[in-house]
Amino acid sequence: MKATALAHPNIALVKYWGKRDEALILPHQSSLSLTLSPLSVTTTVEFGVGHDAVELNGHTARGSERERVLRLLEQVRAAAKKDLGPAKVVSRGDFPMAAGLASSAAGFAALAVAGRAAAGLPADPRAASILARMGSGSACRSVQGGFCEWQRGERADGEDSFAVQRFDAAWWPDLRMVVAILDRGEKEVKSRDGMKHTVDTSPYYPAWVQDAEKEIPQAREHIARRDLQALGDLCERNAWRMHATSLAANPPLCYLNSGTLALIQHLREQRKKGIPVWFTLDAGPNPVLLTDAAHEVAAEALARACGALEVVRCVPGGDAELKPEHLF
Ligand code: DP6
Repeated sequence: MKATALAHPNIALVKYWGKRDEALILPHQSSLSLTLSPLSVTTTVEFGVGHDAVELNGHTARGSERERVLRLLEQVRAAAKKDLGPAKVVSRGDFPMAAGLASSAAGFAALAVAGRAAAGLPADPRAASILARMGSGSACRSVQGGFCEWQRGERADGEDSFAVQRFDAAWWPDLRMVVAILDRGEKEVKSRDGMKHTVDTSPYYPAWVQDAEKEIPQAREHIARRDLQALGDLCERNAWRMHATSLAANPPLCYLNSGTLALIQHLREQRKKGIPVWFTLDAGPNPVLLTDAAHEVAAEALARACGALEVVRCVPGGDAELKPEHLF
């Protein structure tokens, strides 16, 4: 009745931006990401103890944060088809302090894997991905390592909307992602709210959906050929297009700041000088740079020269996994 799992975050190369069903978290389009090591979240779940209790990074979770965790465990209880009793959850991330990095993808993936194991359910990446998705959409792509594709699915019940691994972490060991923390502040508009506002008000949104879906097989091909330049170009283009849909919302939504733009400018200059480095950008001002092992030091230097407060160098990460030691 007790299990612990560790999961890594992921960075989308083709982004997920917008839901067709907010309750089940079903996306309008498919997305594709790379799992990142060494950053990780570890979560222990135990059923059948005192009362429901959720502790995240040393603090008792309250409000919607607590609700999201407990709602996911409700799904575990339904799948187990037995009375598991109350649940205790303790979760810890090793992300740099207030780094502006979202740990929710790794957090919900670790919770899904640990929750299923604590309930005695068998290891099943597809079921765990569906479960993680209901906590946070991008979390479905952190159940497995390497390059994962979240297929939007067609069904109304979401049973065909989960992530599948296309290439494992060992496929492209030379690939590097360098996270540049330019701003540690909480973002003003969370991804969940920003994407809803964009779906509801941006006239560019239908074009985004069509285009992102088309980019998936192309991204897959570039990864199959380990073509960094083609993947880098696609990844930048896709990030710009996601941000363009939000800029066209009413009122407009801009996640970039002047530091972000300065870094992008500098990156282009470096690329002209032969440094193979590209960027992607989630719903915030902190770019993630895509490069290879031979240039990760140069990519870090570039980020620091542009005022990065912190830089985290990442390599392709592995699957979420069960751990023998528990957090409590
Ligand atoms: C810009 O997965 O955090 O990072 O499903 O509402 O929890 P919810 O949203 P979330 O959104 C991630 C958006 C993104 C792009 C991506 O990771 O694909």
